[in-house]
Amino acid sequence: MGSTFGKNIKISVAGQSHSSAMGVIIDGIPAGTKIDLDALYGFLERRAPGKNRFSTQRKESDIPKILSGVVDGVCCGAPLLAIIENTNQRPSDYSQFADIPRPSHADYCATKKYFGNADISGGGHFSGRLTAPLCIAGGICKQILAAYGIEIFAHVSEIHGVKAVSPDYGKITAQDLSRILNREIPTADEEACKKMADEIDKARLEGDSVGGIIECAVLGMPVGVGDPIFERIECAVSSAVFAIPAVRGIEFGNGFGSAALYGSENNDPFYIGEDGRVHTETNNQGGMLGGISTGEPIVFRVAVKPTPSIAKQQKSVSLSENENKVLKIEGRHDPCIVPRAVPVVEAAAAIALLDLYLDRTKELYMKGEN
Ligand SMILES: Cc1cc2nc3c(=O)[nH]c(=O)nc-3n(C[C@H](O)[C@H](O)[C@H](O)COP(=O)(O)O)c2cc1C
Repeated sequence: MGSTFGKNIKISVAGQSHSSAMGVIIDGIPAGTKIDLDALYGFLERRAPGKNRFSTQRKESDIPKILSGVVDGVCCGAPLLAIIENTNQRPSDYSQFADIPRPSHADYCATKKYFGNADISGGGHFSGRLTAPLCIAGGICKQILAAYGIEIFAHVSEIHGVKAVSPDYGKITAQDLSRILNREIPTADEEACKKMADEIDKARLEGDSVGGIIECAVLGMPVGVGDPIFERIECAVSSAVFAIPAVRGIEFGNGFGSAALYGSENNDPFYIGEDGRVHTETNNQGGMLGGISTGEPIVFRVAVKPTPSIAKQQKSVSLSENENKVLKIEGRHDPCIVPRAVPVVEAAAAIALLDLYLDRTKELYMKGEN
């Protein structure tokens, strides 16, 4: 099964959108790790539905119940099991999709793969709702990394072609971060925020949906994390980020843009900074070389497709009748899932990077440099 990830920290996600609960098992959290539950709830709140006019009105509390692995707020070394109960199911909204699959959702492939046994209701195990348990794991990993001085934050960089100016990661402050988080769309660019909101509103009124791009920065990652070939930072982060449904692309640093540059434009010159350490003047490589962190911010961008469930009529087929059909989707769907996917990208990055960071702490320990 594909719902498990990790080497040092192993994460397994379980549940369906309309099962009685969804959950996550996290194995490998160092014993003695303190979990700030209020901070974790706050993090999950950023992903939860029903928060603004762009989000589905399916209101779920999304408060996790931690059933094992934590005693008095401290991890005890046993695997952590957390669940979120699904309290607001409306399976009738989804009854037709096993026979008439939604275009560009997982209904068709799930029906075929699981020989007609898949729980299609609400998207089943493929639902965006399954990003809630992912955020529990990621929220905890984020807290562990933060204790080592490594901060992860993502923001909306583009919605349906409206581009935001990126922040200067060398100068960003806690106040900047809270300003971004408190915007209707968590973007660093106040002016673009309004235009993005207009794009989403326009799509909503037309019964349509739009996608966008999320940019994520990891600040404070020391040099030397990651390994070559299959355990490059790019491999681990991509693998975790593609666990997020609706993600269609990822680029690190200049990414696809670097293909159009001269080497002299794309290379990041080294220099010794005032702190006596090696830095680069630019960060076109996104904070990694050879798959290993350089010590500069790790920066990557994630493309999220438009929500597949739209109110407009669409062409589909009846699998039982083997005939073309017209499908009209009822129910609650975000006209744009990008704002809600922002913390999910942070969570995926935290899961992947903590796993690699723990490899590095072992290397340093063996070298006597911990
Ligand atoms: C936070 C989040 C919420 C989502 N909500 C919806 C939704 O309400 N309706 C929908 O059709 N798709 C939604 N999706 C996207 C689908 O889950 C996804 O497109 C589907 O599982 C197929 O996977 P794929 O797009 O990766 O191929 C959501 C995704 C995320 C990350």
